[in-house]
Amino acid sequence: MRNPDLANVPVMRPQLPTAEELRPYIERIDAARYYSNHGPLLRELESAFAAHFDVTPDRVALVNNGTVALSAALVAAGARAESKCLMPSWTFVGSAAAAWAANLVPHFVDVDPETWMLDLDRLKRRPDLAEVGAVMIVSAFGSPVDTAACDRFTDETGIPVIIDCAASFDTVATVPIAAPGRSPIMISLHATKVLGTGEGGLVLSTDETLIRRLNQVCNFGVWDSPAGQILGYNGKLNEYNAAVGLAFLKTWPERRARLAALTDRYAKLLRTKAGIDLLPSFGSGWVSCYCNIAPKLRDFNQNIQALSNLGIETRRWWQNGVHVQPAYRGFPRDPLPTTERLAKRVFGLPFFHDLTDADFERVANGIDALVG
Ligand SMILES: Cc1ncc(COP(=O)(O)O)c(C=O)c1O
Repeated sequence: MRNPDLANVPVMRPQLPTAEELRPYIERIDAARYYSNHGPLLRELESAFAAHFDVTPDRVALVNNGTVALSAALVAAGARAESKCLMPSWTFVGSAAAAWAANLVPHFVDVDPETWMLDLDRLKRRPDLAEVGAVMIVSAFGSPVDTAACDRFTDETGIPVIIDCAASFDTVATVPIAAPGRSPIMISLHATKVLGTGEGGLVLSTDETLIRRLNQVCNFGVWDSPAGQILGYNGKLNEYNAAVGLAFLKTWPERRARLAALTDRYAKLLRTKAGIDLLPSFGSGWVSCYCNIAPKLRDFNQNIQALSNLGIETRRWWQNGVHVQPAYRGFPRDPLPTTERLAKRVFGLPFFHDLTDADFERVANGIDALVG
């Protein structure tokens, strides 16, 4: 039973810049009287992100959230309307929502047990490629995606690959194989991610024409001319959200150092536990906003309940996969044995930059109870 005297250790505790840190940027907005429409703060943030990811600013686009960014990336990459978008079910529902919003049909494919992500080599051998208009690879909780392999897939099949790297703000900048290529990468700037603007989405691609088209799609189809040249909608990020991003970037080195220390601590602890599998590439040099584990013993309900009794919050971030969620049950899919296995085991532990030592110890003791 739960001890009522124990305060819960939360699974996540987002923290965006304070009012004081935001003030200089808000004062600039007041002075400029420029509130949206690719204003000065947004352009400054694009340049700052370009430096962070070591690309030129014309290879970066900022939009109002990650789901819109993914959807617009599908359109900008030329994904054929009403065709299949091959994607994992082992993801957050937003990935599928983006494909639907781009007028594609999500088709759920199983993930590789070694990476928890789609295997492009296996996809190349599918008999239905003529019906496929796009592939959406989803980074498993910040894991690196091999971007050169995505570009090769497109070269060989003619099918665009969109990379959902929602939680990979750090990975894409620090892991060489995950660096931007032509296939567009989406990074979410939601408040829950390691660097957030509240709501926001970032797209990176070395194909500047694609980035320009994406900006056009997210600006009513209007770009460099007052008339709508292509179909589009409003996906613009406003100056206030850009202000949050600029203020956050100033503190990023310190935030990253804290997340890296916590990642190392968890990785060291969890690698010694024979009864627990860890996200395969966790602790290999990049940081994210999650620490997901897959205990081998008991089912997730018992494990989650055991931790909850100790006042430790957990979250099944990707639930049972997307294919069983009511809105997506009718969509086409392959057999999904790995997804179903992961869904029955994986959940996230408390993970955020200012998790205290005492709370970490409580989680460590809870893990011991699971494997003990
Ligand atoms: C894997 C994945 N894809 C897409 C999204 C959607 O991003 P946003 O919340 O910025 O729209 C998320 C959000 O957490 C996500 O985790």
